[in-house]
Amino acid sequence: MATPRSIAILTAGGDAPGMNAAVRAVVRSALALGLRAVGVKRAYEGLVRGVMAELGARDVGGILQRGGTVLQTARFPEFAQLSVQREALRQLNAQGVDALVAIGGDGTMRGAAALESLGFPVVGIPASIDNDVFGTDISIGVDTALNTICEAIDKLRDTASSHQRAFIVETMGRSCGHLALMSGIISGAEMTLIPEQEVALEEVAAAVRGAYERGKTHAIIVVAEGAKLHANALREKLAALQPGFDLRVTILGHVQRGGSPSAWDRLIAARFSTIAVERLQRGEHGVMVGLRATEVIGTPLAEVSARKREPDLEYYRMARMLAK
Ligand code: F6P
Repeated sequence: MATPRSIAILTAGGDAPGMNAAVRAVVRSALALGLRAVGVKRAYEGLVRGVMAELGARDVGGILQRGGTVLQTARFPEFAQLSVQREALRQLNAQGVDALVAIGGDGTMRGAAALESLGFPVVGIPASIDNDVFGTDISIGVDTALNTICEAIDKLRDTASSHQRAFIVETMGRSCGHLALMSGIISGAEMTLIPEQEVALEEVAAAVRGAYERGKTHAIIVVAEGAKLHANALREKLAALQPGFDLRVTILGHVQRGGSPSAWDRLIAARFSTIAVERLQRGEHGVMVGLRATEVIGTPLAEVSARKREPDLEYYRMARMLAK
């Protein structure tokens, strides 16, 4: 590909803290390299409708510390259709854009891979609190979400201890247990239930019983939203199995997606974004940038969109060991 002169940027899928930091960094590094930057509103849906405008350095001022995404986002399953993808390409061509940076999760990377396969140069940047994107150890937004969850569970523990209660706390993550698994470790949960690891109900009851028997004044069970037993169903079944438990359920929900991005999320947003733009300028595309240990690497978009990042079950063993 010839060096692009104009790159579009979009944020798609569920918003994640740090998306704005990435938008700012993509725009500013594009401008620094002499490229024109164009912001697409409302993800792939906006792309197909041609909702885009040129962005200058000042347009992305004051957004680094803001959660959500100033470009906004949208769920748009229609983008799986070839005719819709072709319309997106038509809009990009009409606006004189010759490359795209797509910021988002696994669905976003599928859209990015589709455009790339139609011959349009795309580089992806992983941003999703779920941390299920293949090709990176961590996505933008995960660290902030974990800090939010940690703070929430610390608070729940205060009230749980005061009443000698057991709390079932549901975290997000769709079908991936990463967020729950990490939350269980950082918040000292007695038990963590994730989709990737089945646990018998009796084992959960034993963990709660054991906590009280060892002199604890509370018990915390973290449940991933994708786990086999949902938080409320778990409460019902545990109550039936062990009528003595004083159980409460807290579903953390979308609060996990909001808030000012952590220092780590701002930093990886800056690293991913500058490298994404530099790659595009060198004519390298069709990849998603991601972190492997301490290094920023590129993984083909086709591979990213065909695979799912699985949580490391070694953490599961560690969490069980520490819950004593
Ligand atoms: O992918 C991010 C995520 O927050 C998931 O954890 C969750 O399952 C989903 O999005 C919720 O989607 P929505 O905001 O569209 O309800």
